[in-house]
Amino acid sequence: MSSNFIWAVATAAYQIEGGKDTDGRTPSMWDAIREIPGRIKDGSTKDLSCDGRNKYREDVQLIKSLGVTHYRFSIDWSRVMKNGKTRNPLGMEYYKDLCRELKKEGIKCIVTLFHADLPLDLYNEGSWLTEGIIDRFVEFSRYCYEELNEYVSIWITFNEIRMHAWAGVVKVEGEPFHSLDIDYKKFLGNVSVTRAVMVASRNMLLAHAKVYRLFHEKDDSTRVGIIVGAHSCMDAEGEKISAVSERATKSMVNLYLDPLIHPSNDWTEDMKEYLGTDLPPWSEDEKKLLKNTMDVLCLNYYRPHIVKERKGPSLVEELFNFTMVDDDWPKIGGESSWVRLHPRGLISLLEGLTKKEKEDGMKYPNVPILISENGVNDDPSLDSLEDTNRIQYIEAHIDGILEARRSGINVIGYTAWSLMDNLEWDDGFQVRFGLFHVDLKSEEKTRTPKMSVDWYRKKIEKERRDETMNKEVK
Ligand code: BGC
Repeated sequence: MSSNFIWAVATAAYQIEGGKDTDGRTPSMWDAIREIPGRIKDGSTKDLSCDGRNKYREDVQLIKSLGVTHYRFSIDWSRVMKNGKTRNPLGMEYYKDLCRELKKEGIKCIVTLFHADLPLDLYNEGSWLTEGIIDRFVEFSRYCYEELNEYVSIWITFNEIRMHAWAGVVKVEGEPFHSLDIDYKKFLGNVSVTRAVMVASRNMLLAHAKVYRLFHEKDDSTRVGIIVGAHSCMDAEGEKISAVSERATKSMVNLYLDPLIHPSNDWTEDMKEYLGTDLPPWSEDEKKLLKNTMDVLCLNYYRPHIVKERKGPSLVEELFNFTMVDDDWPKIGGESSWVRLHPRGLISLLEGLTKKEKEDGMKYPNVPILISENGVNDDPSLDSLEDTNRIQYIEAHIDGILEARRSGINVIGYTAWSLMDNLEWDDGFQVRFGLFHVDLKSEEKTRTPKMSVDWYRKKIEKERRDETMNKEVK
């Protein structure tokens, strides 16, 4: 094992910075969502945030206290490009300064270009449904590259591309609703909602590939990745991989990776069959553009799913002929949490994606994998600062991942979600994923370490020590 394993912690711009119009920032889609009465569970509006924008120097010290090697954060497109279109040096200066502060402390940056939020103007102009947005994204990315690349170790184009396509553009039955319900027919004509989602997916994949090519043209050693949610699906019988669980995983994971790294550089035949004319085809030139545009495959993992052969009830289940059923894995974030403690789900997905003996199109044997998010919300039955559930959850996953690495799977790093309690999208601030507690009622938005902070630092120290010792023995 080499000693350059990435130990990281993550946040996302909108989740810690909110929507205050400082630095010439212009309105975003999430600002507008938060103004709709009833949409956010705690009723908080765009002005409530952790004030990450102003407290970044203090936050870099928090990151340092964790002993991580990397910090994963995202850039707010609405802050660095006015209305998503015109460069805003004042907004960019903040991210530059954040990078400089991190560098001073020896912390490297993993930067996500798109994490769920879109400039409002671009949303209203058709969001990811229109091809015009691809070049807008390229221009935004170009600006970020020019200003920040010297500090960046890995660029991630999209956070959870599938999640954004199904939840963040149009309203889809049975999926979370993280957008403004655009009238997609205005942009695409009288097509199905599935077609709209797949057009958005297609445009995001093309945008990813163009940015990959641009960054590699500038410097071929640039590392560029994309995040998919690690929706590992298992069969109810003994958690085996079966036809139905494989199909469910393919529909949520491989569907988005195949055009980039499957040898065919195309949607796979089975996905074409399930989606039919709702799946827009690629031209030969587009296939060339997409081919092998991935230096790091990034996975966000929170839980697996148990699936059975049956249609519905959600649109995705209907389309791919499966249904998700109840599981009895520990509800480690409390009764109301959707997170489950079952690290085996991640390991079996890693095996499915990489193991060489699998010959069926699910494998991508050569790509390094970064776990780009993993974590759990506070369990309301525990004192929020004594987050023993988080320690148990993160430890089980780290141990599983390191074991997988020892068995030959090329996992290059682990990222805990999240640095601090933050806007958990439509759940507002009530659901807390932070290693640091944030007092949102205080004017200073005071950060206080939970028990997991000290524990994570010690765990990283121990694993780094063991790694060095193992190397010396060899
Ligand atoms: C998202 C984060 C979110 C986390 C917990 C991830 O899918 O990238 O933005 O806070 O899940 O729900």
